[in-house]
Amino acid sequence: MSFDLRAVIRPEVQALRAYHAGPGAAPGRRLVKLDANESPFALGEALRGAVVRELRQALADVELHRYPDPEARALRSALAQDLAVAPEQVLATNGSDEAIQLLLVATAAAGGCVLSVAPTFVMYELGARALGLRYVAVPLTAQYALDLPAFLAALRQERPRLVFLAWPNNPTAGLVTDETGIERILHACAGEACQALVVVDEAYYHYSGRTVLSRLAGFQNLVVLRTLSKIGLAGIRLGMLVGSPALVEEINKVRPPYNVNALSQAAARVVLGHGEIVRGQAAAIVEERERVLAALAEFPGVTTFPSAANFFLMRTAGPAEAVHQGLLARDIVVRNFGHLPHLAGCLRVTVGTPEENEAFLTALAAVLRREA
Ligand SMILES: Cc1ncc(COP(=O)(O)O)c(C=O)c1O
Repeated sequence: MSFDLRAVIRPEVQALRAYHAGPGAAPGRRLVKLDANESPFALGEALRGAVVRELRQALADVELHRYPDPEARALRSALAQDLAVAPEQVLATNGSDEAIQLLLVATAAAGGCVLSVAPTFVMYELGARALGLRYVAVPLTAQYALDLPAFLAALRQERPRLVFLAWPNNPTAGLVTDETGIERILHACAGEACQALVVVDEAYYHYSGRTVLSRLAGFQNLVVLRTLSKIGLAGIRLGMLVGSPALVEEINKVRPPYNVNALSQAAARVVLGHGEIVRGQAAAIVEERERVLAALAEFPGVTTFPSAANFFLMRTAGPAEAVHQGLLARDIVVRNFGHLPHLAGCLRVTVGTPEENEAFLTALAAVLRREA
């Protein structure tokens, strides 16, 4: 028998590298985990008393021997209410990663192009290339802002069907442009030179406080992505796509049935009913973010970039890998991006609890003293 896997896996898939999300929870070692842009607060801790009972009850009531509601109707209503849009405008997905994939699947055409910026969230490129699409990224400026003239020129030249803007951007953490910049792109993608969906990925909305949801009424080509992953529910994998009812109807055709499991649907509905907890935790993280950034301003050789998210990007004078390893040796996990184009010397750090942030600052000071 001779079977060659390479004969069946498409060459563009063979050329990909799988997404590696970091070490995860290492058995037997308590790490300060500041590498995955999660919330450091377990919602369960905050959902005390009556609320935690409500969550337990809701999960206990789930009929695990039955398939979940395939259309996630109750959940979509709750999401729509939270977003102040109609339920027909919302598609619930298995994390926003799945929303990205569904958009790619629905728009992919032979020789098609996907346009974004560099650096940005890696799943746009991974998803596009896995489908054999061309992926074009317009470099951000040295300060990690959108080069709007270059982006508009790329739209005319490449004629993508899909445009991704992470707003705030990952891993740079800032808002690469403002609402006016996004509107310019939306107009440019609804003309003769280019017809494209513009996906504004607002995964970090709760930390930026900025959204283009209100533009949905004026732009049929706008799609907004949101997720519960960054506000304490990364474990349940719930994302959402928001757009016109017509667009949602089309994307829904390529969604696997039962993509959001019953436990996730139930848990999300309970937590959505307690938005004040999520908002309170987000405000605490934003306060911590500013405190840590102010502290880092005193660190010699460290440059930070403005953040509108629950993480920030910092550049060290020496190689990022040495700092990354030095922090790891002190049980602090951050994300090293130093090996990537546009990100030489850069580490991405998620804002943790006040204690975790202190541990990070203390460890970083020790590592930089040793490196100096
Ligand atoms: C910009 C951006 N979009 C989407 C995601 C994926 O989020 P989810 O956990 O909802 O799949 C991330 C996760 O890091 C992200 O940074």
